[in-house]
Amino acid sequence: MTKQRRILVTSALPYANGQIHLGHMVEHIQTDIWVRFQKARGHECYYVCADDTHGTPVMLAAQKQGLTPEAMIVQVRENHLADFSGFGIGYDNYYSTHSPENQQLSHSIYRALKANDKIACRTIEQLFDPEKNMFLPDRFVKGECPKCHTHDQYGDNCEVCGATYSPTELINPYSAVSGATPVLKQSEHYFFKLGDCADFLKQWTAGESKLANGHIQPHLQPQALNKMNEWLKDDQLSDWDISRDAPYFGFEIPDAPNKYFYVWLDAPIGYMASFKNLCSRLDMNFEEWFAPDTETEMYHFIGKDILYFHALFWPATLKFANLREPTGVFAHGFLTVDGQKMSKSRGTFITARSYLDGGLNPEWMRYYLAAKLNSKIEDLDLNLNDFIARVNSDLVGKYINIAARAAGFIHKRFDGRLLSVSDSALLTQLQAQSEAIALNYEAREYGRALRDIMALADAVNEYVDANKPWELAKEPQEADRLHQVCSELINAFRILTVYLSPVLPQLALQVAEFLNIAPLMWSDSTLVLPEGHVIKPYHHLMQRIEPKQVEALVAANKQSMAASAPEPVAATALTYEPVATEASFDDFMKIDMRVARVLTCEKVEGSKKLLKFTVDLGFEERTIFSGIAASYPEPDKLVGRMVIAVVNFAPRKMAKFGLSEGMIMSAAGADQLFLLDVDSGAQPGMKVG
Ligand code: 2FM
Ligand code: ZN
Repeated sequence: MTKQRRILVTSALPYANGQIHLGHMVEHIQTDIWVRFQKARGHECYYVCADDTHGTPVMLAAQKQGLTPEAMIVQVRENHLADFSGFGIGYDNYYSTHSPENQQLSHSIYRALKANDKIACRTIEQLFDPEKNMFLPDRFVKGECPKCHTHDQYGDNCEVCGATYSPTELINPYSAVSGATPVLKQSEHYFFKLGDCADFLKQWTAGESKLANGHIQPHLQPQALNKMNEWLKDDQLSDWDISRDAPYFGFEIPDAPNKYFYVWLDAPIGYMASFKNLCSRLDMNFEEWFAPDTETEMYHFIGKDILYFHALFWPATLKFANLREPTGVFAHGFLTVDGQKMSKSRGTFITARSYLDGGLNPEWMRYYLAAKLNSKIEDLDLNLNDFIARVNSDLVGKYINIAARAAGFIHKRFDGRLLSVSDSALLTQLQAQSEAIALNYEAREYGRALRDIMALADAVNEYVDANKPWELAKEPQEADRLHQVCSELINAFRILTVYLSPVLPQLALQVAEFLNIAPLMWSDSTLVLPEGHVIKPYHHLMQRIEPKQVEALVAANKQSMAASAPEPVAATALTYEPVATEASFDDFMKIDMRVARVLTCEKVEGSKKLLKFTVDLGFEERTIFSGIAASYPEPDKLVGRMVIAVVNFAPRKMAKFGLSEGMIMSAAGADQLFLLDVDSGAQPGMKVG
């Protein structure tokens, strides 16, 4: 009997401002399979996760919905948990980073880092939105790429030429929150002195842990280690800015009023907080798991994009807060669909909810993704035709079919009773693979494990074809042989189910119910059901995928995009205005029209018709009233967009509301107005003509 291991496992914490999609599912399914495997092997294993609730995007998303962040994250967490549970993800705890445990742990870790001289404080200059009165994260500053001059690029990198830069380098920057031109402003920030941790990190990233069972576990995969070495070479690690100014949704930093922990400081601490919350529920000793000399293991499953945080910041944070470090960080690649990046317009950005609501069996997806997963940091493709083919041929055609072919005879002919088949060569062949399959699960080589399991299913099907139970059933003198063969098949099906159980937990439970046995553990693969054991009547255990179900799924994800885009206006027959009397070119030239950027746009109290705009004309800002309120019920959505404005009319008094310094152009439909747009690249102030 191998020594029982004590293992804590995490998946990356999803942000509380987005929906769960199949990209998340790759990781949580990968983790869940590993955890279920460890539990089936009899180890003490806990799987924790949480919503990652802090930061500017969550704060702004809540504002947009007219909710407090606290209220929004409660709702989002419920949705996330329902989606994950729908896919059979069996967390021991799914918590929130906005929790008392996380606040207390973040504070105590920060204090320990400070005591170990790992915190510095200095003044930096950062872009500030003077209208929203907030500092802007890089992603919330947009402008022209300093390298290729493409417009509307984010403040950290250009999506067109790939250049990376700081937001202050953008040409004509503007705030993506309000449209205002940001200004540089000074602020005191707190830094984690990562540069001081370089020696430790060089040794940790290249290091390994010796487990209680003697196994040697490298901290990082070889590809991840190479990447870290690039960052670590030449001692280039810069200190890490861990503070943000108010307004910010997060935890205040002790003894630093109005300064908040950057979301990435308290997010991984959220792993600990979720586990701490579980420990208090289960009456377990939390501290023991995080003591520097603990024998317990801790693994983080993550995407390759967040390696830097998990392989550098996080181990250094733990180390210099006098805590244990991770035993291993397991990174995976990204999910593509039909060979391409998931796309909302193609309908391949598939949400977990749409999959579940479409009535597709989540275990089909678990099986397919597992068949494609390995221990490397490789992207993984969901090919929708292959998905249908593989599930139907492997899972239903090869595996489920075994039970379907044997159970009927056991019931009709032998009252559901099995013979003892402990000397079966077929079962011995299946049992002999138990440790090899286990090693592949342990090493996260699920694709290999499933290939081996399906090879065994092939062997069982060959046995069926060689023994032809349907023909034995026709010969009364072959009754014993029929009983023997079908009992072997039922046992073979049970062993295959043990091997598949980490991937197909729901199905494994249904099989246990059908076989009239307790839920399966890994060691059950070595046993054979006793003589006379009675199984229950067989009901079909899994349907085949119909291609139309997948087509509907893709269509549903296209539709959900259309629903969030402006509704197309139903085409009604237009009554055309007669063409106006002739005008000269000089007449036309008297009208000065310019491109303008909307800085603010709001409803006007006391007027159903008017919206009040402030627009940036490049050379100046103006206030303009426009009678388009009925066509644009959510005026704040217009902030940041370009419009066309007439700028040389005399200012006009708009009743009691104020002075309008121009006119915003729109096309007039029968009962709707449509603002004129301009191609991207146009700048405020450009003349129209
Ligand atoms: O990248 C993300 O989606 C982050 N919310 C992951 C956080 S993982 C952890 F460190 F908390
Ligand atoms: Zn560029």
